[in-house]
Amino acid sequence: MAFALLFNKNAQSFIKLTSIICFLQIAALNGQLRVGFYSQKCENAESIVSSVVKEASQREPRMPAMLLRLHFHDCFVQGCDGSILIDNVKEAERNAFGHEGLGGFAEIQKAKTQLEAQCPGVVSCADIVALAARDAVVLAGGQFYEVETGRRDGRVSDLSFAAKMPDVDDSIEVLKGKFITKGFTEKDLVILSGAHTIGTTACFFMPRRLYNFTGKSDADPTINPKFLPELRSKCPKNGDVNVRIPLDNQSEMKFDDQILHNIKNGFAVIASDARLYEDNITRAVVDSYLPTDQMSNNNTSSSFENDFGLAMVKLGRLDVKTGLLGEIRKVCNSFN
Ligand code: HEM
Repeated sequence: MAFALLFNKNAQSFIKLTSIICFLQIAALNGQLRVGFYSQKCENAESIVSSVVKEASQREPRMPAMLLRLHFHDCFVQGCDGSILIDNVKEAERNAFGHEGLGGFAEIQKAKTQLEAQCPGVVSCADIVALAARDAVVLAGGQFYEVETGRRDGRVSDLSFAAKMPDVDDSIEVLKGKFITKGFTEKDLVILSGAHTIGTTACFFMPRRLYNFTGKSDADPTINPKFLPELRSKCPKNGDVNVRIPLDNQSEMKFDDQILHNIKNGFAVIASDARLYEDNITRAVVDSYLPTDQMSNNNTSSSFENDFGLAMVKLGRLDVKTGLLGEIRKVCNSFN
């Protein structure tokens, strides 16, 4: 009798526990990323972000590039969770060396302030960053892609987590390794690096490539000899490291496939882009987007732009927090 009672009690607790787990799983599933996550809860969410990005880009032409880069840097450290935006903890992730030069924080907060006024506690900062990156691509002339939303904001910001960010002077093996560890392919590495079709770099990232590539006061031999003097005059030895030069030598403001031509022809500006043409796999990916004698240029460039959108959707899924995880911050630079 006592045994039956005990068994009954244990069975009841077991059923209760399983129900709770089921409920949690359903709640978490409900929170999966999807296109139009805010269409009921905050119907103007996407248009508010778009208008802030548009206005900011009219004021500051560098804005699209900054916002696109911000999303990458957010996602690559602890997933796309807005952790890059936090600035009021002691060792904030945002202050890591690998995040040098990031911008667009004020615009993300501007969109957040407007969203909080319309639908308090609904739209995550991580989603604002993802939407702003897409709007930035479109404003720069790139192809529109749907952004999945429903991310929640992370509760951790730690400088040490940024150590695994790809570095401009990484070898191609290291670059590939850093992307593959995060679930990306070599193709993703090439396509996402194609983001360097817009924006600029500070001369800060150039000295090794231009003046000390193998420790013998030499330049990176993959730089086209016609291009080296230009790069060296823009970023002179011991010059001002804050001077900014276009990443895409021909069309820094336009989202197109010119960067891939540059990589092939020795006109890549930063070393990590040049490395993409040194490896059989990544070189084949670059070449696959460039016209051959049989193909017209138009066919190939539209496919890069289309694939860029797909790669951005994949980037936007990286280690996201959804459902019951994380939080919806009240302000983007500080935890609730
Ligand atoms: C392969 C690894 C990558 C490396 C080593 C790398 C490195 C860099 C460096 C050194 C800069 C110059 C930063 C500055 O001076 O402010 C830069 C700029 C930029 N990066 Fe990357 N990057 C990588 C991948 C990506 C990816 C995947 C994206 C986006 C999907 C991206 C988007 C950008 C953009 C748009 C800029 C221009 C920012 C501006 O003009 O302010 N990068 N990157």
